[in-house]
Amino acid sequence: MVLQETTNQPASSEKIPVVLTGYALQSLRDSGYSLSAALGEVIDNSLEANANNITLHFEESKTKSGKRHIHQIIIIDDGDGMELDVLQHYLQLGYSTRYMRTDTIGKYGVGAKLAALNYGQRIDVWSRTNEQEWHHVWFDLEEALIQEREGETVGIAFPNIESIPDNIFTYAPKGSGTIVVWSKVDRLEEGQQASDAQALKAEVKHELARMFRYFLNEGIRISFDGTDLLPYDPLYLMKGTWADREIFKYYQRLRKGANKENKEHSLPLPEASKDHFSATQIAQGNIKVGGSICTVTVTLYPSEVARQRGMANDNFARKTLRLQDNQGAISFVRLNREINYTNVPRIFPKGVEDRDRFIGIEVAFKPELDSYFGVRNVKRGVEPHDELRTEIRTFLNSYIEEARNSLNNIWGEVARKSNKGNGENLLVLQAVKEANITLPKSRVKTKISNQEKSQIFVDLARDVVGEDKKKQEEYQETIKDLPFVVEFVDIRGNLLIDTQHIDGKVIITFNTRHRFYREMWEPLRRIADAMPGSISGDEATKAARRSIEALTLLIIAYGKAESMDDNPREHFSELRSDWGKFTESLMGKVKDVI
Ligand SMILES: Nc1ncnc2c1ncn2[C@@H]1O[C@H](COP(=O)(O)OP(=O)(O)O)[C@@H](O)[C@H]1O
Ligand SMILES: [Mg+2]
Repeated sequence: MVLQETTNQPASSEKIPVVLTGYALQSLRDSGYSLSAALGEVIDNSLEANANNITLHFEESKTKSGKRHIHQIIIIDDGDGMELDVLQHYLQLGYSTRYMRTDTIGKYGVGAKLAALNYGQRIDVWSRTNEQEWHHVWFDLEEALIQEREGETVGIAFPNIESIPDNIFTYAPKGSGTIVVWSKVDRLEEGQQASDAQALKAEVKHELARMFRYFLNEGIRISFDGTDLLPYDPLYLMKGTWADREIFKYYQRLRKGANKENKEHSLPLPEASKDHFSATQIAQGNIKVGGSICTVTVTLYPSEVARQRGMANDNFARKTLRLQDNQGAISFVRLNREINYTNVPRIFPKGVEDRDRFIGIEVAFKPELDSYFGVRNVKRGVEPHDELRTEIRTFLNSYIEEARNSLNNIWGEVARKSNKGNGENLLVLQAVKEANITLPKSRVKTKISNQEKSQIFVDLARDVVGEDKKKQEEYQETIKDLPFVVEFVDIRGNLLIDTQHIDGKVIITFNTRHRFYREMWEPLRRIADAMPGSISGDEATKAARRSIEALTLLIIAYGKAESMDDNPREHFSELRSDWGKFTESLMGKVKDVI
């Protein structure tokens, strides 16, 4: 169809219609609705008609070229339904029973039609306000274009009584309600929008679950493809969400030991019965603008989601919870309905960071502020304007930093907890195990009995984890395959380290009573575990200076100890050279594991 045809119409002195219905609608098909945004328009209408149950259904088939595609989309609600005149006007562009109101979701009178035409060329609507007959109206863009070319006026017929199609019958409400069918869908072939129908549906479900989370949370049912949507709350505050379910499943798997990924081993497990994982609310505040207010909420995701440093990108974070989508994203909610979930440029202090994917941000406002948020007829692309944006940025500034700091706290805490009773340096020891494979083998011949050997391990376990028998066993299991074990234990006396060699394994105990530990190791450890920003520069400098002193004194004390021997150059040269060599080699292989 070429638009030029229309210019061939004879010139006339008569008035002409402002809009060429068919052609204009054809152009308006590209209004930029994503599929979920388009479906959202229809769901909005259902909600405003007081529906409690909304059902979505996609009909799939193959195109002539053999590609799978979705050719029909059906949306059913059990709302109030439409009286005959409203039903006829449903299809009229610009018609709304709530035109430009500020207390309703819809207000432009174009959503239902443009969204439909964005994906299909035909709209059918059945509606009724009681359990009597269904009334039907339809609009077909293909037919409209033909009529228009033949010089006819395109119009919408008065609703006729017509029963609903068979494939819809089972889903139809018993009483009042509305059924919207988009057909001649020509923009949802596989490969368009998503790789296949399955992926497309998953995406749509996820989006709708977030967009309508407040309604779903209050008990409105939206069912898609036979399953009811669970709300998805990017703030992680609601209960019974889709994330709650996934987190629960994740820890159940971990509990059963199904996941052997190294880091997941040492994760603290929540109580088995825990099924709600709530974020911490960092801040909630109102921003006054244009005689109204918008409410900004900042949350930090639960520790069960934040887990450990460095896990923001594993399967659970990325594929299951899709946390990368949340990195720097703000959810804009208008009258309880999310109209945009997006990154607003330059609104995060010092730019967006990886760890920001654990921070939830929502900005909620009423339609009175539509112009400040740049709300358009297509519910996307919302962005707060100049003054408002500055205010939101100022608000977020300190709270995002606070959330980032709390996150580091959680991570520091988890690191400390998982270290206790597991050998303080487990991460290093595991890395050394790898590195040790290529080092020369131990030449020690262990001369003690098996019973003595196992006693050494029992004693070590008691020193490290205390009297709890079960913990002792767990500890022994952890160190079983490690070639080197380093433990920090309370040894009386001046010994700095003690070593034991058992069947090629080296057990080193480091005396926590020793000054070297107390005045150097411990302060450094505290700084390493603390959240950045919480340690003063003074404190850090002091610790660094004391460390240099301590290391220098350690070397001097070593020289002094050698001098107690009558021929140290001969007796210790091999030890010195091996020590230097292995330190060099291990430091090359083990790096940044803590
Ligand atoms: N599911 C529905 N149930 C009852 N009435 C509806 C439904 N969908 C649409 N309507 C009516 O059709 C009108 C046009 O819908 P729409 O084009 O989405 O405009 P808007 O939502 O902006 O008013 C609505 O104002 C409403 O009166
Ligand atoms: Mg609407």
